[in-house]
Amino acid sequence: MSVENELVFPGPVKDLSSIRLDLRSWIEVEEYLQSCKAIILPLGSTEQHGPTGAIGTDAITAEAVALEVGKRSGVFVTPTQAFGMAEHHLGFPGTMSLQPATLMQLIHDLVLSLVQNGFEQIYVINGHGGNIATVKAAFAQAYSSALSRKLSASKRMKCKLVNWFMVPEVFREAKNLYGENEGQHATPSEIALTLYLEPSLISKQRPLPAANPAASIHGYEDFRNRYPDGRMGSDPFLAKPAHGMKFLEQAAKALTNDLSIFLGES
Ligand code: NI
Repeated sequence: MSVENELVFPGPVKDLSSIRLDLRSWIEVEEYLQSCKAIILPLGSTEQHGPTGAIGTDAITAEAVALEVGKRSGVFVTPTQAFGMAEHHLGFPGTMSLQPATLMQLIHDLVLSLVQNGFEQIYVINGHGGNIATVKAAFAQAYSSALSRKLSASKRMKCKLVNWFMVPEVFREAKNLYGENEGQHATPSEIALTLYLEPSLISKQRPLPAANPAASIHGYEDFRNRYPDGRMGSDPFLAKPAHGMKFLEQAAKALTNDLSIFLGES
């Protein structure tokens, strides 16, 4: 851990129960806010991940990365928001989507709830590309609302969205291991992380025919016509639990560092 981290973080913890917001009392949260005003919010999606991937892939992975960053930094982690904007996956059973306007309102309300009671830095660790545009719009809305409501932290509040699968080290490693077969949805990198975290998923793995190459995304009917088994150019059979362990380490290391920079900025 760098010197900067020691300055801005509460410090690493051994036990996840001390950074999980859902296991803290309000008294403990109030004490925490005396020395740190940052919080991590894991954001996923509940959507199809090809014929062999888990519906919860994006939430499972975002939560694991967020908890690992929380453990290394001591920064609190909220419960995972497991539903995201997955309208284009609605052609497949098991997908549960929030419309963009709903997700925007939801993130806005969660951010405002935190800022209302003194949190100033909201760090969203995201596991799903489809959430990105909407979450950024929600941040813009939240800044305006905090100012118009004259919340005491409104002039200091800062929100940041990061995507664990786009961390440069993870991205490079995925290209290295899987080349073009990384694809863009139900990717071997995200599936590898789920296999590491949830070994029961390994039994679903089987060889699959070549997926249609990734192209544009439109409505859910169009998506299912273009990508009949849900994959976009990916071969998740290449995923191995050991790869997942490495991705988790790379993502947690890079994002812990990124979080320290975010907290150190004035
Ligand atoms: Ni995914």
